[in-house]
Amino acid sequence: MRMSAASSIVICPICSLSLTENNNFYACVNNHHFDKARQGYVNLLVVNQKKTANPGDNKEMIQSRMAFLNKGFYSSLATALNQLIPEQAVHILDSGCGEGYYLRSLRENFPHHHYYGVDISKEAIKLASVANKNISWFVGSVVRLPFFAQSLDVITAIFAPHDFNEFHRILGEQGRLIICAPEQNHLIELRNILFATVTSKDQDKMLDLANEHFELERTMPLQYQCKLTTKEDIRHLLTMTPFYFKSSKEQQENLFLLEELDITIDVKFWVFRKNKM
Ligand SMILES: C[S@@+](CC[C@H](N)C(=O)[O-])C[C@H]1O[C@@H](n2cnc3c(N)ncnc32)[C@H](O)[C@@H]1O
Ligand SMILES: [Zn+2]
Repeated sequence: MRMSAASSIVICPICSLSLTENNNFYACVNNHHFDKARQGYVNLLVVNQKKTANPGDNKEMIQSRMAFLNKGFYSSLATALNQLIPEQAVHILDSGCGEGYYLRSLRENFPHHHYYGVDISKEAIKLASVANKNISWFVGSVVRLPFFAQSLDVITAIFAPHDFNEFHRILGEQGRLIICAPEQNHLIELRNILFATVTSKDQDKMLDLANEHFELERTMPLQYQCKLTTKEDIRHLLTMTPFYFKSSKEQQENLFLLEELDITIDVKFWVFRKNKM
């Protein structure tokens, strides 16, 4: 892995040349200009990458996720992720970073790395950039990440979409791709209350896609239980997951009657390195 930080690894989403950071904006030599928002983030999502006006998680989902994560229910995930980051890494990207919980935790533990958070949701990046000014936050899409080829040492994707072609393009030869994805019993209690039949999930398809470009170096399963003891925590958990949209109002009412809820966290970290060509 490279030990020195390049001046900029960020590229212009229009012409793919280097984007230089100035006080209030980023610009390339072709004069493509991207203002920093008041909160400090930059929107590098070009219009043809958007399928809807406001893609990605909405404000309610993002605020619920931040409230839930900040209460520490997933802190063991952050701890596990911290253990998987190679010490020599310089440039670390969290793709689909949401409101930035895992990057904030990484930066607290390893302040010397360069951190980049990309998410397609402007609301997510807005909240992320209010919460931490020492991380570079970009609105952007996983299908076209705004970085030079082979410029990242670590890419993480936590419960977030994958584009293995793009991950392969931007990851350095010695880099690591770290994916965190749910396993069979993840949030099983919540799913049992909401749905009559619970479909089980495996990551075979993800592995098949990853295998085209990456080889699996190691996996790290993580399982534990915790108890939600307020209606607010239960509501936040539902609202931050895709089950919010997949369940009916009637199904959600069953959940909102509860004063407390035991939940199982069942996830796996997958660490990949690039295939030797
Ligand atoms: C389940 S959330 C996980 C967020 C964060 N990694 C976490 O665990 O707290 C999935 C995230 O992926 C983002 N997302 C969805 N499609 C995306 C895309 N094409 N490119 C980048 N991010 C995307 C959503 O906006 C959302 O923030
Ligand atoms: Zn340009």
